[in-house]
Amino acid sequence: MSLRSVIATASRAAGRRAFTASAARRSDNLMMHRDSAHNNAGIPFSFTPANQKEIEKVVAKYPPQYKKAAVMPVLDIAQRQNGGWVSISAMNEVARTLDMPPMRVYEVASFYTMYNREPVGKHFVQLCTTTPCVLGGCGSDKILAAIEGHLGLKSGQSTKDMEFTFLEVECLGACSNAPMMQINDDYFEDLTPESTIKILEQLARGEKPKIGPQSSRLGAENSAGLTTLTSKPYGPGDHCLPEFQ
Ligand code: FES
Repeated sequence: MSLRSVIATASRAAGRRAFTASAARRSDNLMMHRDSAHNNAGIPFSFTPANQKEIEKVVAKYPPQYKKAAVMPVLDIAQRQNGGWVSISAMNEVARTLDMPPMRVYEVASFYTMYNREPVGKHFVQLCTTTPCVLGGCGSDKILAAIEGHLGLKSGQSTKDMEFTFLEVECLGACSNAPMMQINDDYFEDLTPESTIKILEQLARGEKPKIGPQSSRLGAENSAGLTTLTSKPYGPGDHCLPEFQ
């Protein structure tokens, strides 16, 4: 039995998830393309006229000989046009548009986790389960259980109707509002199991939930109130030693 398995077993026995137990995307999902009915190079993909204009604007930011530097924003445009994921045809079209070898586009799309190489649901739920979110607020373990219980799926899975895809992810840069999740382009922060389920229910009904902190906070201010800078700041000269005044 490996050390990893021993730690995971001991943590389960103690009623805790091991830090090493985060569900991971299978490596073949990340690195490999296998032709399938919904994802093969024979399926046509071309940018819409509106997106072609958008791409021209992006490419114009770089010197002509470095057109390929626009690969990330152009992949993002392709992903949005393609319903939230980049197919092999979409990646090939990005390569053709930027005059670069398709393999270079595949490398970028398979390295950065913000590009989905398989279809995702209408609502792509990404829950941060990195340490500050595990420890902050009620803890992301509780949010994870709430999402999995409510949607009836595990990380990496989608609902049958493709309304929701759920994925555990690493830090999304909103640690001071832990625990938090991202759904499509929106952040939902200071989550509790109740507020999480409410958000998912609202989305399922086609409503737009409140984005940002779900607590009384407006942003990332101290939830205990003001603890520093509570008095009038001293002005120029107020801080000088008496002999210099
Ligand atoms: S650890 Fe969760 S947002 Fe940074």
